[in-house]
Parts: sequence; structure tokens; C-alpha cells
Amino acid sequence: MKLWAGRFNKNTAQTVENFTASIAFDYRLAEVDILGSIAHATMLGECKILTADEVQGIITGLQTIRKKIASHELEFSIADEDIHTNIERHLYQEIGALAGKLHTGRSRNDQVALDLHLYLREHVLILIEKIRQLQSVLVTKASEHLETWLPGYTHLQRAQPVSLAHHLLAYFWMLQRDIERLIASWPRLNLMPLGAGALAGSSFPLDRELTARLLGFSGVYENSMDAVSDRDFVVEFQADAALIMMHLSRLSEELILWSSREFGFIELDDAYCTGSSMMPQKKNPDVPELIRAKTGRVYGALTAILTVLKALPLCYNKDLQEDKEPLFDTLHTLLQSLELLAPLLSSMKIHSQVMQAALADGFINATQLADYLVEKGLPFREAHAVVGKLVQHCIQQNCALGDLPLEILQKYAGEINSEVYPLLSVKNIGINYKTHGSTAPSAIKFQIQQALRKLRISERWLAKSGQDNPLPNQMMLNSCKLGTMVNQTHKKEKRDAEHYSTRCHQKGA
Ligand code: ARG
Repeated sequence: MKLWAGRFNKNTAQTVENFTASIAFDYRLAEVDILGSIAHATMLGECKILTADEVQGIITGLQTIRKKIASHELEFSIADEDIHTNIERHLYQEIGALAGKLHTGRSRNDQVALDLHLYLREHVLILIEKIRQLQSVLVTKASEHLETWLPGYTHLQRAQPVSLAHHLLAYFWMLQRDIERLIASWPRLNLMPLGAGALAGSSFPLDRELTARLLGFSGVYENSMDAVSDRDFVVEFQADAALIMMHLSRLSEELILWSSREFGFIELDDAYCTGSSMMPQKKNPDVPELIRAKTGRVYGALTAILTVLKALPLCYNKDLQEDKEPLFDTLHTLLQSLELLAPLLSSMKIHSQVMQAALADGFINATQLADYLVEKGLPFREAHAVVGKLVQHCIQQNCALGDLPLEILQKYAGEINSEVYPLLSVKNIGINYKTHGSTAPSAIKFQIQQALRKLRISERWLAKSGQDNPLPNQMMLNSCKLGTMVNQTHKKEKRDAEHYSTRCHQKGA
């Protein structure tokens, strides 16, 4: 019997059941659905809508179901459409008619909105932690390579020498902006929709603020129609995710280039590469290639949710069910990519000799020579032209700027004297930079301090925001530390994903 069978004379067509059911993917919400139900039941008890015994009975039943789901003892069925109904059905089997009281003052419309807030909130914490781990790898590598010099590129042409540390830290700051964007979206994500009912609110005197407090939310939606219709927080997250993947794709692309024979700057560890079935010599950077490509599906997810929401009238429409699969896929893609990039970066071999050699040609010290002439009193434009001519001369002679004898240099600009030679040495170029944020090792040391400070700030934010969600911590995770909590949730999810997706497929979903 369907929940809504009362109004119907016929059974739903099997094809319709298959088409409309969401259990094949929303089983992922099981944990947060139970959590939300426990908070809702607790609130119903505090408001004297249910008796203390009834609340106790419901919570005990839900806890049992939670355990059974964790040990994969429960079957979910397509006939029960979605995770909410599946859990309610199992609650009936556990505690009988009392189960029917849990849905008092609640609709699946505000329930699913709540679940999505809870689920995404938990995952944003996990995600920030994973981004931090990648940032830490970048800082560690940077600290080891303060004085490893390589060409910096513009237009993919050798431009000026930069320290490898500086290059890697550029990615640190991209990821830092990603974290800050996620944190900035938190107030809108951490808002509680329950109590909106189907759309208009509830005729029961629900204490929405209490439910919000129990679940660690910082506030409640002010408008019930908005509460059940809003998926802006999903759009915002998908946009943030698109930026994160774009950043990871740029990093991946550089790893692919750098590990090519043409560059030869790095070698990826065997454990993070794959081979070719035909060409025995091949060692392919499949992991960064896939990260580069998976950026596409994350962009697609942003377009998908924006399109689902476009022109959608208030309030709940079944269209909203389409918010989930792209979101789950995005979370999975992001976490997987971050988890792989961190060890891939920390295990890669850096060929600093090759980097150094790449600095030897390509006139990477030309700007330095122009700056030198400016110090000697030439206007920069004139200096630029003189060095341009000198470069031409070198190309004809097949030599580097530093190889030219003083007489030749002086033929082009009489101001030049022998003190120019140490300046033309590539190593000194970087050291000579003077601005805040430059590639000079002294500036990079400061940059690393700033990076470490940012890591501490996000760590504190995570610890605080993890604690602000007392119920998830207490119920799901028995007050374990956030790092472990994060990993446990993530690992468990992976196991469940394997379990339920194969089952639902076997059943023809
Ligand atoms: N599975 C549904 C979804 O994901 C849950 C809400 C169903 N509400 C309804 N009125 N049919 O959106």
C-alpha cells in the first residue's frame, strides 16, 4: 500500500514506479533522514504534540533502523519510492502504528529539503578538510623547493625564472579562495526548512527553533513556501564546485605537461600512473587526465540544477528530485579528485636539473637586463628595445645573453659594464625581486607563513562548525575528532554506495 493510496483505485504502473522512484540514489540520505526525524520527534515531544513514551518509542525504532541500515540488514524497495518512505515503512515494521505519528506536522517536501541541507552541510565540512590536506601538501613541497628554479611561462613560452615553491603556492591560494567561498555560503546552507510542511506551514504549534538548535542550524527559513522550494544553496555549492574542479584541472594540466618527455620537469610515481596495452615504454598520467576531464561533469551539474530551477513555479515540484544525482556525483568527483591529487603531488619526483637547464636558453634573463639598463638611466621602453636587439644578435650567434663579451654588450648600450654578468645568472634573478608576493625566496618565506596562518584559520573554523552540529556528532559519531569523523562518514558512504547501487540495479531501477 502506498502512503497516498487512499485517493486511488488502481495500482501505479510499474514503469511509472521505476521512473519516479528516487531510492536508487537518495538512499545516501538515510543517515541524515533519520537524524532529522529524531530531532523532529524530540521537538514534537517538547511541544506536547506527542507523549514522552511515544517519542521514546519512535526514537528507539529509528535507532534500530539506523543500525540495521549500517549493517546492510535492510532492503529498500522501489515500490516505496524514496528514502523517506522506505524508512517510514521500516519504522512501521519495527514499532507498529506508532510510526504513523512521526510524520505529524511534516511533509516529504520540507523533509527532503532538510535532508539535503544536512547532507550537503556534512559534506562541505569533509570537502574543506580534503582541500586543506591538498593545501598542506603544496606548502610542504613549497618549503622544500624554495630555491628550485624553473621557467615561469606566459603564452606557454618561457618568460621569467620562478621558484618551484612560488609556482606551487599559486595553487594554494586558488584553493584558499575555494575554501573561503564554501565558508561564505555556510549561513545559507546552515538554514533549517522543517516546519514548512507541504508549503504553507503547520497547524500544529511546532517549535521550529528547537528543531534547528537540535540539528545545529544557525536559523530557520522565514517563509515556508521559500523553505520547500529553495535550492539556491545547491546552485551555490555547484558553482563553488565548478571553480574547485577548474582549479584542479589547471593543476592537473601542468602535471601532465611537466611529466611529458618534452618538459621532463617531474616524474609521477608509478603507483599513480598507468601503462599502455600496446606500447611497452608508456607511462601515462591517467589520474590528472581524468581529473581534467571530470571537470566537465561538474560544470554540467551546475547547468543541470540551474536549468531544473529555471522558471519553476512555487512550491515543491517533482522536478526538484533532479537536484540530487548531479549533486551526489559532484561530491563524489570532488572528494575522489582531491584524495588522489594530494598523494600524487607528494610522491612525484622533481627533476630540478632539468628545470635548471630549461632556464639556460630562451633568454629568460632579458627582462632583468632591461631593468639593469633602467637603473643605468635608460627609459624602460628604450632599454626594452636595446635588449630586443641583443636577443636577436644572440639568436644569430646561437648563444645566451650572458655569453656575450662586454665589448659586444657595450656596442648596444654603452652603459653596460662587467657587473652585469652576475645579474644575468638565472639564480640571482629571482633573488633580486623586491615586491611583496614575488618569487624571491625571502618573499616566499613570508608567503608560506601567511599560508600556514590560513590553514590554522580554516582548521579552527572546521572544528567550530563541526561542534556546532551537536546531534550529528553525538549520534552518528560519538564525539570523535573531526578528522576521523570526516573520514569515517566518507568511507561509510563509499561502502553504502557500492552496496545499494548494485542492489537497486539488480532490481531493475
Ligand atoms: N523523493 C522526493 C524528492 O527527492 C521527495 C519529496 C517528495 N515529495 C512529493 N510531494 N512527492 O524530491
